[in-house]
Amino acid sequence: MDVERDPVSGRETTGHVWNGIKELDTPVPKGVLIFLIVTHLFAFAWWILMPTWPVGHTYTKGILNTDQRTSVEKHLVDAQAGRAAWMKRIESENLEQIAADPQLMSIVRSTGHRLFGDNCAACHGINAKGGYGYPDLTDDDWIWGGDLETIAQTMRVGVNEQHPQGRNSQMPSFGRDGILDADQVSLAANYIYSLSHPKFVTAANRASVLSGREVFMSNCAICHGEDARGKRDVGAPNLSDTRWIYGGDLDQIVETVHGGRQGHMPTWDERLSAADIKILALYVHSLSSPAP
Ligand code: HEC
Ligand code: HEC
Repeated sequence: MDVERDPVSGRETTGHVWNGIKELDTPVPKGVLIFLIVTHLFAFAWWILMPTWPVGHTYTKGILNTDQRTSVEKHLVDAQAGRAAWMKRIESENLEQIAADPQLMSIVRSTGHRLFGDNCAACHGINAKGGYGYPDLTDDDWIWGGDLETIAQTMRVGVNEQHPQGRNSQMPSFGRDGILDADQVSLAANYIYSLSHPKFVTAANRASVLSGREVFMSNCAICHGEDARGKRDVGAPNLSDTRWIYGGDLDQIVETVHGGRQGHMPTWDERLSAADIKILALYVHSLSSPAP
């Protein structure tokens, strides 16, 4: 057959003519053709090797006999066996022993982070840094004590909860209950403020800060200590540093002394297993004293 070539593109024409316009013969590009062939071959090979087609209640299994469900199940069984092994050690060893074992501690850190997110972050924040009304657990400024056993105990019995061995935290409402008048509240608050802000004391207010100290000595030192560094047995925090639960502005301190504070920390001994409490105590402890 005579093949006509298009003078402009140099391509052959198909011989079809519409109103004098001739159709060029443009085949599918080679690259696309090869791609189609390869993907078809791949699909055929896959149908033969792997589970592919549903057939009634079953499916074509493929000659390689792979099954992702069994492999996932196997992974789960392996992971559970691993978990059972380390859980047993966490249950049987004491807190110091676990803390000294870097391998267990890396499990404690990841599991503890998850447990903390689920149970504690709502109040203490996901990074455990606390917030207004909720103490920072990452610093070394502890209300009740920061050794492993004390942290675990605080978690078990809670604070201001109805627990037989519960911890009670009662900052009296000196102003509202009329124990002190407004002047005395203000004097005491000014004195507290001056402890963390030495520059606050000037020649002009020195005398009033000193009378604030007197109010403090006769009303507050019994719980917060004469040096105002706090007493752990009554959960009275250190007032001489710059870390505050309820804010360290003068206004906020006045508010605390006027209205009192009774923070609530839930009990966990019935909500979490003994092993989870250990993991969380170790986790919280590790936040304030990171491993070297
Ligand atoms: C409902 C809010 C809330 C939740 C949830 C909560 N806490 Fe607390 N937590 C508090 C408050 C409030 C305090 C301060 C109590 C006080 O005034 O003595 C506290 C205190 C603590 C302390 C003592 C800090 C110190 O300085 O001695 C530890 C440790 C602690 N929480 C750990 C946890 C852990 C671990 C969890 C999760 C299992 C958790 N908390 C969940 C509110 C909460
Ligand atoms: C019966 C013991 C007790 C006495 C007395 C007492 N406090 Fe407290 N105070 C506490 C406790 C417990 C807390 C912690 C409350 C909490 O965590 O919810 C606290 C908390 C505070 C805080 C808040 C600290 C922070 O980090 O935000 C201030 C400020 C304070 N007291 C000042 C005083 C002053 C001033 C007096 C005396 C006029 C006084 N307290 C007397 C027990 C006491």
